[in-house]
Amino acid sequence: MKEYDYLIVGSGLFGSVFAHEMHKAGKKCLILEKREHIGGNVYTECVEGIQVHKYGAHIFHTSNKKIWDYVNSFVEFNRYTNTPIANYKGELYNLPFNMNTFYQLWGVKTPTEAKKKIDEQRASYNHIKEPKNLEEQALVLAGEDIYTKLIKGYTEKQWGRPATRIPAFIIRRLPFRFTFDNNYFNDTYQGIPIGGYTNLIQKIIGDIEIKTNTDYLENKDYWDGRANKIVYTGKIDDFFQCCFGKLDYRSLRFEMEILDIDNYQGNSVVNYTEADVPFTRIIEHKHFEFGTQPKTIITREYPQDKSDDNEAYYPINDEHNQMIYQKYQELATQYVHIIFGGRLAEYKYYDMHQVIEQALNASKVELEGKNHDK
Ligand code: FDA
Repeated sequence: MKEYDYLIVGSGLFGSVFAHEMHKAGKKCLILEKREHIGGNVYTECVEGIQVHKYGAHIFHTSNKKIWDYVNSFVEFNRYTNTPIANYKGELYNLPFNMNTFYQLWGVKTPTEAKKKIDEQRASYNHIKEPKNLEEQALVLAGEDIYTKLIKGYTEKQWGRPATRIPAFIIRRLPFRFTFDNNYFNDTYQGIPIGGYTNLIQKIIGDIEIKTNTDYLENKDYWDGRANKIVYTGKIDDFFQCCFGKLDYRSLRFEMEILDIDNYQGNSVVNYTEADVPFTRIIEHKHFEFGTQPKTIITREYPQDKSDDNEAYYPINDEHNQMIYQKYQELATQYVHIIFGGRLAEYKYYDMHQVIEQALNASKVELEGKNHDK
């Protein structure tokens, strides 16, 4: 019998939740984390009394009551509601597209006027029956004004290429809201953990043994020898030494600034939708928690290609990468003592509530299936 029942690689939401459930059931767990801190990409750090979202803004939202109750059983959440603003050449628009946006764009005041205006805008592109790229798709769905001011520049910066070279399927539909409702999400529950996400992860991990600054892959055989089962939440291509090739990701560069003023932009998220501004968003962290500190902290987000020096953020779901991923996925089925979970091991964009649900399901299968080889 080995020393640990489970060795969990990665202390992000997947690893932490899985470890918590197994620990609760009496299993002996060890978490390995290659970074110097816990939490994976939801990690927040307290600077000037403000919780800074170090790997990009994280807003918890879900319609799944079970998941909402689960996270609230560890920490209290505040009543934050995401209401981003778009800045296009100094003009401000509410997002997502709703009656406020339509009023700001065209001065229309009723849903009937707004629908008529959108129909007029789309009419010029009725001749496009099968949009060949994102530009054509967006023009068919929204017309010139919304596409030019609110979609084109932002999306091109995100993808690092012209909209005419981005596949059309990225925006199959555009949700228009004919109410004056700036709430970005449609979910029933939304908020930010009081005390930050690191506080949430700390509570989930509790007293489970954890080693930070420890890369599992650097000493894989040694770690494999110490546990009956491995839960791997790192990159799946790295696990298999990129034998089928590297999986591509888009990355982000974050430029953080502490400002000697108490309020910079009056909102936590402002998107810069013109192509000439090199960053996509400015995040003002204190507004996630209704902060009243004398200083403020902002972060500019610059999208970029993934290289060896920066983090993998968004999987590129094109055919080429999906084909490579499927090969890894197939190979992974032969490793019966390893559970591959989370966004990097499954090469999939997951929201936080989805990752938690996946981890809860995986732990349930382990406990109820009792299929780990002890
Ligand atoms: P995560 O990447 O967090 O954890 C994996 C961990 O494994 C990392 O800590 C890593 O260091 C570690 N690891 C990897 N390889 C290792 C090795 N060899 N040895 C040891 N450790 C290793 N979701 C949402 O609901 N609302 C939001 O607002 C946002 N916002 C957002 C912004 C941005 C910019 C991104 C990219 C993503 C979001 N998300 C989000 C998604 C959210 O970040 C995501 O759902 C979770 O962080 C995924 O948790 P995981 O545990 O899967 O991965």
